[in-house]
Amino acid sequence: MKFEIMIVDDDKAHLSMLRTVLKAWGYQTTEVEDGSEAISNVCEKPFDCILMDVRMANVSGIEALVEIKKINPAIPIIIMTAYSSVGTAVEAMKLGAYDYLTKPLDFDDLELTLKRSFEHLSLSRENKTLKLLLSSNDSLSSIIGSSPSMVELKEMIQTIAPSEATVLILGESGTGKELIAKAIHGYSSRNNKPMITVNCAAITDTLLESELFGHEKGSFTGADRRRDGRFMQAHKSTIFLDEIGEVPLGMQAKLLRAIQEREIQRVGGDDTLYADVRIIAATNSDLLERVKEKEFREDLYYRLNVVTLDVPSLNDRRDDIPILAKYFLVKHSEKNRKIIDNFTPLAMDYLIKYEWPGNVRELENAVERAVILCNGNHVSERELPPSITKIVTNIELQNSGLEGMAGFSLDEIEKKAIAQTLVKTTGNKSEAAKLLNITRTTLNNKIKKYSIQFPQSGT
Ligand SMILES: Nc1ncnc2c1ncn2[C@@H]1O[C@H](COP(=O)(O)OP(=O)(O)OP(=O)(O)O)[C@@H](O)[C@H]1O
Ligand SMILES: [Mg+2]
Repeated sequence: MKFEIMIVDDDKAHLSMLRTVLKAWGYQTTEVEDGSEAISNVCEKPFDCILMDVRMANVSGIEALVEIKKINPAIPIIIMTAYSSVGTAVEAMKLGAYDYLTKPLDFDDLELTLKRSFEHLSLSRENKTLKLLLSSNDSLSSIIGSSPSMVELKEMIQTIAPSEATVLILGESGTGKELIAKAIHGYSSRNNKPMITVNCAAITDTLLESELFGHEKGSFTGADRRRDGRFMQAHKSTIFLDEIGEVPLGMQAKLLRAIQEREIQRVGGDDTLYADVRIIAATNSDLLERVKEKEFREDLYYRLNVVTLDVPSLNDRRDDIPILAKYFLVKHSEKNRKIIDNFTPLAMDYLIKYEWPGNVRELENAVERAVILCNGNHVSERELPPSITKIVTNIELQNSGLEGMAGFSLDEIEKKAIAQTLVKTTGNKSEAAKLLNITRTTLNNKIKKYSIQFPQSGT
């Protein structure tokens, strides 16, 4: 996407100079010579940035700023001001300007400030999209992830949802199997009734049968009245049998009959009942292995295994980590009424590098905890669980080559770090200084101190 910048300046020469520079950097531009024109332009177009002079003949930059903020508060506005009027710049910042630059403009500064403003803009647009997703009740779009395996999975869900086919969802703990079951039900013609979920692992063996199929009055101690089971409750809807691998062998035959014939009998009853249910089952255990070990009936396995969905572990779709993390950040900031825009780059780096054995659930828990602990508007590494920052530090050390640094003096390490960063930025000192988190002046001093040779880009 090409960003569009509106330049507002009543100095014609300055205006055309800026236009030439910005175009050369690949931006699209619109130029106007006074504040009132800028205001009317904003009504018509959502510019990605406004670069505006403060001192203009008719409507001043400050007046225009105030009006534009009312019309479209999302557009970042960068104010240009003479050195002597920095006070005005501060006032502009208070009124909501994104940043200010002093004239004559330093092109390095201009480039960096623009880049930052576009990052800021993309972030707030992304947060807005995520908020919309959170408030939508579309069960499929609440499954976050755009890695190829997730895209394929979502397509598969849409394909199979309208059919009556039994679905078996396989995947490690915390990968989103329940979310997927809900989406399948949500996209089926049975969605006018709620899906009934049974966690087969959470119910003791003796109670599972009555939970699933119901019981007659007096069929066991405590059965003081007749009760329908989950299958009957799911009549004309969907039953989700979670942790199906945990169903005891003795119950599996009855379950097979229910799945095969849709026929059930209440505990202690003789009547055969019919339940019109769609069946979705899930497990994180290796069912085939359990079949081999004679712990799971082979016929039940094949009955369940009509359509199988393999949910990838988070480690197998690492590209989805940033978007999932941001989604949970938006979700839990809203829940906790906090305004947190983003993660610091370092915190995000930790999240990206961690292996996530507990998958999406572990990521969500880590982000929720961080939101609760966070006081600023960025989540930093300090708010992440120590388990994440500790493990990553070890991995990082092994991968970074920093292990080989042991025994070198700090000066030597610093020299190496600066030289390598300059190579990475192909000699761009502003960028290198930013990466190293030092000022350009400090960088220049160190380059001199260590006589560092590097590619010359001229900046
Ligand atoms: N792709 C995803 N997008 C958004 N949220 C997700 C996604 N995957 C999982 N989650 C969230 O992570 C948590 C765990 O998901 P879920 O309960 O569906 O996992 P599961 O595979 O059923 O795990 P288990 O096997 O432990 O029961 C839930 O809060 C769920 O909303
Ligand atoms: Mg589950």
